[in-house]
Amino acid sequence: MNPDTPLQLLGGLTAREFLRDYWQKKPLLVRQAIPDFESPIDADELAGLALEEEVESRLIIEHGERPWELRRGPFAEDAFSQLPERDWTLLVQAVDQFVPEVAELLEHFRFLPSWRIDDVMISFAAPGGSVGPHFDNYDVFLLQGHGKRNWKIGQMCDSTSPLLEHADLRILAGFEETAEWTLEPGDMLYLPPRLAHCGVAVDDCMTYSVGFRAPSAAEVLTHFTDFLAQFLPDEDRYTDADAQPVADPHQIQHDALDRLKSLLAEHMSDERLLLTWFGQFMTEPRYPELVVGPELEEEDLLDGLQQGAILIRNPSARMAWSEVDDDLLLFASGQSRLLPGKLRELLKMICAADALHADNLAPWLADEDGRGLLCQLVKQGSLGFADE
Ligand code: SIN
Ligand code: CO
Repeated sequence: MNPDTPLQLLGGLTAREFLRDYWQKKPLLVRQAIPDFESPIDADELAGLALEEEVESRLIIEHGERPWELRRGPFAEDAFSQLPERDWTLLVQAVDQFVPEVAELLEHFRFLPSWRIDDVMISFAAPGGSVGPHFDNYDVFLLQGHGKRNWKIGQMCDSTSPLLEHADLRILAGFEETAEWTLEPGDMLYLPPRLAHCGVAVDDCMTYSVGFRAPSAAEVLTHFTDFLAQFLPDEDRYTDADAQPVADPHQIQHDALDRLKSLLAEHMSDERLLLTWFGQFMTEPRYPELVVGPELEEEDLLDGLQQGAILIRNPSARMAWSEVDDDLLLFASGQSRLLPGKLRELLKMICAADALHADNLAPWLADEDGRGLLCQLVKQGSLGFADE
C-alpha cells in the first residue's frame, strides 16, 4: 500500500499525513469516509448475535433499575421486547469474528498494522441512547452504520479524571465540550486515546467502532518477565564477586543497584526473546476456544486443495510475521514458529489469507517446509477450509 495515496477513508489525507498529524494526537471527522455505506447487518441480526453464548454483549439503559444500568449478555429472546422506548444501547463486541462482511470492513484499515487492531464492536441505540461521557485508552474509528448519532468531544483524560460512582461503568463526572457533530451513515470520527467523548443516538442508530489495542506498560513488564523467566536457570542469580568491605552491614549500597541494573539489562535486552514474546502476546486470540483445528495429515490437506478446497484465515485467529537475522518468525494465535527465509512470500500470503488454493499455493505445496507449515496451521485452527 502506497503511504502517499490519498484515501477516501481519511477524507483525502494520505496514510503518511494521517499518521503524522492525527494518529494518537487529535480527532478527525471524515464525512462520507465510506460513501453510501450500508450496514451489512441490521438491528435484528445484531440482537440475534447478543443471544449467542460465545458472543460478548452488553445493554446500557440510562434510566433503568438504577441510573446507567448495565446488563451483560448472552440475552434471552424476550430481553429486547421489554426495553423502554428510548435511551438504551446494545453493544456487541468482535462482530468481525462472526460476520465476514463486517470483517471485510477492516480492509479499509490496512494502512495500520493489523496486529494493532482489536475488534469491530457494533452498537445499536434507541433514540437518546448513549453509554455516557467517557474516555477509552485506545484509538477508535467510529463509523456511522445506520441512522444518526450526535457526537460531542471534550477534554483529555487519564486515570485521575473524576468518575461517577458506578460499579461497572467508567462514566466521567465532568465533560468539557470542545466540538460537536452529527454523523450520518458513512461518516466517521477518529478519536485518539483518552479523549472524552459522548455519542447520543438521534434516531434508531448503529455505530461501528473499529478499536485498537496497545498493551499497557504494566502488561508488557509482567508478561514479558514471566515469559523470560521460563528460560532462566535457578543458578542465574544476583552475584557480587566484586564486593568490597562494608562500613555498615545494614546499608544497601548503590553498587548493589548497579549489579541489579546490569542483571536486568542483560536479560531485558535480548531482542529475539522480546520479539518472540511480543508476537505471541499480540496474536493471542480474543476467543481461544474458537481457534481449534481438525486432526489432519499432509496428504488430506493436499487432496483437499487438489479437489478445489480453499483455505482462509480463521476470523478468530490473529497472525503476524517478522524477521530475525536470515530467518523469519510467524506468529499465529499466540504461538511462534522460526522458519527459513525462503518462506517469506508464503508467510505474507498466510497472514493476509483471504483465499489460499491449489493454484496460488502450488510452489509452496511442492516444498516440504511450506507444506508442513500449512498443515500445522490448519491443525492449530489458525487456517481453515472456507466452507467448514
Ligand atoms: C457506542 O457505540 O455507543 C459507544 C462507542 C464508544 O463511545 O466507544
Ligand atoms: Co468510547
